[in-house]
Amino acid sequence: MKKLIIFILAAAIMVSIAACGSATKDSANPSSGSSDNGKDVLIGVSMPTQSLQRWNQDGANLKAQLEAKGYKVDLQYANNDVNTQIQQIENMILKGSKVLVIAAIDGSALTDVLKKAADNGIKVIAYDRLIMQSEHVDYYATFDNFKVGVIQGQYIEEKLGLKEGKGPYNIEIFAGSPDDNNATFFHNGAMSVLKPYIDNGQLVVVSGQKDFVTVAIQGWDSAKAQARMDNLITAYYADGTKLDAVLSPNDSLAIGIIASLKNAGYGTADKPYPILTGQDCDKPNVIAMINGQQSMSVFKDTRVLASKVVEMIEAITQGKEVPVNDTKTYHNGVKVVPSYLCDPVYVDVNNYKEILLDSGYYTEDDLKQ
Ligand code: GAL
Repeated sequence: MKKLIIFILAAAIMVSIAACGSATKDSANPSSGSSDNGKDVLIGVSMPTQSLQRWNQDGANLKAQLEAKGYKVDLQYANNDVNTQIQQIENMILKGSKVLVIAAIDGSALTDVLKKAADNGIKVIAYDRLIMQSEHVDYYATFDNFKVGVIQGQYIEEKLGLKEGKGPYNIEIFAGSPDDNNATFFHNGAMSVLKPYIDNGQLVVVSGQKDFVTVAIQGWDSAKAQARMDNLITAYYADGTKLDAVLSPNDSLAIGIIASLKNAGYGTADKPYPILTGQDCDKPNVIAMINGQQSMSVFKDTRVLASKVVEMIEAITQGKEVPVNDTKTYHNGVKVVPSYLCDPVYVDVNNYKEILLDSGYYTEDDLKQ
């Protein structure tokens, strides 16, 4: 009798352990991807363009990491066309996406389609660039955009010895696309370091063009940056006036600026390349750093950003607390969007091997001339 009771008890315990195992597995097991085992959870990923290197990496990283967790992914690129992006997002809504991850081309153009997403109970994560003028942006994942500018400003400050009172030096300033909320953060970050030197005369903007609107380049377009640099050289530097530094907010602009400088004969002992900043560590720009045509680029590890977004999606689909580390900075005109800011660092010819090659971001082949 006693043996029978012990047997029944043991059997009961075995059954409950088995039941517990699967529950934890489903909710905690990353490979399930969501509380209902993930196989049918669709994530819509909308990227701005494939013509700028980084977005290809962002899209590929997100897709690979999400699929590894068992999600289905609808990844679309919008060729830098706002209407195409809106249509693609509408399709993602119709296809039943549970979460939308959007790197906006024009941050202010998505208000209506985000309303549709909200009406369908879909959560929206703004990716890298904040989506403006909408209450239906649930989270924002990006790098510390103000700090990106500060890093660029500090690089110029250090290389010119401005803290030591050196100067005057001549500088020209570029900014990013006016429809990209990040562009003002980059600009303000850099100017927070450089403006005191412009005010005290250690830095001279020979063209006088300093305000964001005047120096902004629509669409982050290399050719437009090259054209502006051509005009600046013709108007202000053709008489031999020395150009000591150029603030470029990213690499696609820097590559256009380099082409203009090269055509104007820079890169000789008499006419050395000015200090030139950048962002994204695009392959051609890392090669330009190795060749002494560009001085630095701000590295934003797109693998890190993607993994943070995957964490957010896991939390959303499992009804858990979504990881954020900034609930103050990013007001999109309607509300402060809870954000996760990843950390940018600078890369130049002295540390690119360690940061880009040793980390596996690039291979030696990627940087072959
Ligand atoms: C910004 C982004 C930068 C750069 C630029 C052009 O929004 O943060 O990394 O890529 O767009 O695509």
